[in-house]
Amino acid sequence: MAKSKIIYNKKINDNYFTMSISASSETLKAKPGNFIMLKTNKNNLVYDPLLRRSFAVSDIEEDNIVITYKVIGKGTLGLTYLRENDIIETSGLLGNYFNCSLNNKRIAIIAGGIGIAPFPLLVKRLTKKNNFIDLYYGGKSKNDIVLLDKFKEVDNIFITTEDGSKGKKGLITDYINREYEIAFVCGPNPMMMHSIYKLNETCEIEVSMEERMACGIGLCMGCIVNLREETMKNKKCCKDGPIFNGRKVVWQNLNN
Ligand code: FES
Repeated sequence: MAKSKIIYNKKINDNYFTMSISASSETLKAKPGNFIMLKTNKNNLVYDPLLRRSFAVSDIEEDNIVITYKVIGKGTLGLTYLRENDIIETSGLLGNYFNCSLNNKRIAIIAGGIGIAPFPLLVKRLTKKNNFIDLYYGGKSKNDIVLLDKFKEVDNIFITTEDGSKGKKGLITDYINREYEIAFVCGPNPMMMHSIYKLNETCEIEVSMEERMACGIGLCMGCIVNLREETMKNKKCCKDGPIFNGRKVVWQNLNN
């Protein structure tokens, strides 16, 4: 674990925050899809030494990396107590990354809720290369639609919310009706699975899995994803992923 300084920890809305953390020169080489682990309790305000959580690298700003998080439990709640100049324990870079060496491709980015987190950095890498990019972004309500200012460079943005408070009312997967060469997907497992059904058969699909991670380095076996290859394979989300070929994932074996 390394010690990093909090540069800022900003509230986006009641549930979502964005945090900038000082980073080593190695961490600044993060590729879209890489993640870090953070020890989320400040001064043991909540005493739980296991409170380490994985967070996708959302962006890189000068000498700092940025994460985006949603408060969904005591781990992420612990993060909200952190303030500028506080020190936090971090580990990483961890995991593999999206294919971002693409030129002149038709690309779909499909995000559900906090699944938007890894995509600002991906879009930064892809928009310089003459790619055509559609962003599909769905959430339960308008509070789940964040970071839109990071996607000004994409060609189209489609937004849905289940309660109709922003964008069209419904599920984002209902609006995928164009053909793409590659799609990048991150969000709840049912949303990712349905995205695969809706995408054209020739489209390559890279999904970023959000399985709960405890160790982050392949030791605890707590993050298994089944892949259907020549035989069924058990893969560790933290070490072999979190990016997988979405067509090979055995979705039925995963928790929602
Ligand atoms: Fe421990 Fe993946 S989080 S093996």
